[in-house]
Amino acid sequence: MSSSSRHILTAPAWPYANGPRHIGHVSGFALPADMFSRYQRMAGNKVLMVSGTDEHGTPIQVQADKEGVSPREIADRYSTVIAEDLHGLGMSYDLFTRTSTVNHYAVVQEIFKGLFDNGYIFPTKTMGAISPSTGRTLPDRYIEGTCPICGYDGARGDQCDNCGNQLDPIELINPVSRINGEKPKFVETEHFMLDLPAFTDVLGEYLRGKQGQWRPNVLKFSLNLLDDLQPRAISRDLDWGVPIPLDGWRDNPNKKLYVWFDAVVGYFSASVEWARRQGDPDLWRGWWQDPDALSYYFMGKDNIVFHSEIWPAMLYGYSGQGDKGGTPGSLGALNVPTEVVSSEFLTMEGKKFSSSRQIVIYVKDFIERYDVDALRYYVAVAGPENQDTDFTWSEFRRRNNDELVAAWGNLVNRSVNMAAKNYGAIPEPGELNDADRALMERSRNAFAAVGAELERSRFKNAITEALDVVRDANKYLSDQAPWKLKDDPARVQSILHTALQVVDDAKTLLTPFLPNSSQKVHEMLGGEGVWSGMPELRDVSEDGGPDYRVLTGDYDVEARWESRPVRPGVPLAKPTPLFKKLDESMVDEELARLEGA
Ligand code: MF3
Ligand code: ZN
Repeated sequence: MSSSSRHILTAPAWPYANGPRHIGHVSGFALPADMFSRYQRMAGNKVLMVSGTDEHGTPIQVQADKEGVSPREIADRYSTVIAEDLHGLGMSYDLFTRTSTVNHYAVVQEIFKGLFDNGYIFPTKTMGAISPSTGRTLPDRYIEGTCPICGYDGARGDQCDNCGNQLDPIELINPVSRINGEKPKFVETEHFMLDLPAFTDVLGEYLRGKQGQWRPNVLKFSLNLLDDLQPRAISRDLDWGVPIPLDGWRDNPNKKLYVWFDAVVGYFSASVEWARRQGDPDLWRGWWQDPDALSYYFMGKDNIVFHSEIWPAMLYGYSGQGDKGGTPGSLGALNVPTEVVSSEFLTMEGKKFSSSRQIVIYVKDFIERYDVDALRYYVAVAGPENQDTDFTWSEFRRRNNDELVAAWGNLVNRSVNMAAKNYGAIPEPGELNDADRALMERSRNAFAAVGAELERSRFKNAITEALDVVRDANKYLSDQAPWKLKDDPARVQSILHTALQVVDDAKTLLTPFLPNSSQKVHEMLGGEGVWSGMPELRDVSEDGGPDYRVLTGDYDVEARWESRPVRPGVPLAKPTPLFKKLDESMVDEELARLEGA
């Protein structure tokens, strides 16, 4: 653990505002980011966690067409729904905003101009597919046809999943739109390109410097991309998006910036918005310009290319670093990501999550039926951290019952209960013996060990290590068996004091994962005030514009990453259970809800 306080940006990917979130989504971008942020705050660092809903582009347009409403209506509706989902999960965002704000548009356009002025964006004429019925661009991956290389029938416009080759939609044999089955029309169109090849050297140096730091899968994938960097179109024929900030283009109703170009800038624009809302418009600079600042981006693996290649290229180009040199834009040079923390995919009872086929459990339904901390626990201990992973209800139930209820909940319950019954307070210890000292030392040492794992986003190792302390404490209580020592009251006091000290330590160690139940344990042990901060939904506006709902919060709370001596004499009440035990029938009920599972 570093002793000095650093600026740490936590950057969870921006969910598309096209529907409610399910647990497959949030196991990748959301919960790991929150565990990381909570730990870093407890360790004394200056954390800024910002994100928001991603509201432009095809995913929103497709949903709007499906529901027969405007993309803005879809974005408004689901932005609120998603903010509520994330609120329910206890995601401690400093700001969760939207990409449809005036601020976001202005910051995106500033980044575009900086890149353009440095020569990293250029216009080009290409043949693009449009839908004859709507006149809108058909994105590459929404076109399907026969692969010109291997003859596979279901090749997409961007690539063939059968032979793995990159394709251009115009090469497909018998192309059709996956949206409505019509045959696309190819017309000449002008677009802006991001000159990715101009960043081959600087990106290569950047990524090779991450050896041994990033998760191996993520780094390998990113390094592979370097072999074939091509200029990438960053505009689209669409009316919903951020306008291109150049004369002759700005007012063109049918050309907008590509959604990914605007979305990745969101991390930065949200930092700027947050600073303004804090009343100090320059406050973002600590996270983006301090050379010692660190930044961690959390996402599912389908997002890697945008975070390890395109966003760093944009940041380098804006900062005047790339083959063409240049000067930093008006906001100054900006930091590239310290780490792209990508997880793999979660499946549901052996199948891909699918809202349309109802192979899904939405966040909202989950937390209505079960403890939020049970979900957070499951994602930490059994989430898709390093490989694709299957969520099953029976495994969820098993871990909830065996690990949360029987190990952690039970330790809290019996320690607090015995002390409350016998003394009504935390007892004064007598002389401690070797077993007492060994257990306390064990839990004190766990802070460094669990912290080191959390710093590297190794959530599975971190929570396993923390749970081992709990298991050791349970074993200690069984071995010492204070209930058999009626004639040695001093010894009983020492044992219960030791147990409560370790309960308090374990509560701290588990706070990044289980903020709600840790708050309860904090209160059970006589702690006051907010131990683990929770986000709040707030309605805000920009310069008299319409209200929109953001998530924000005050996380300057009690929790510190250290063992704190419990205070003898603090009154204790009879504890209430921390977690709900789940009955076997819940597994069948949930399976019955999954159509076709
Ligand atoms: N909306 C994208 C998705 O859900 C993620 C965008 S991340 C951002 O896959 F950085 F671009 F915002
Ligand atoms: Zn093919």
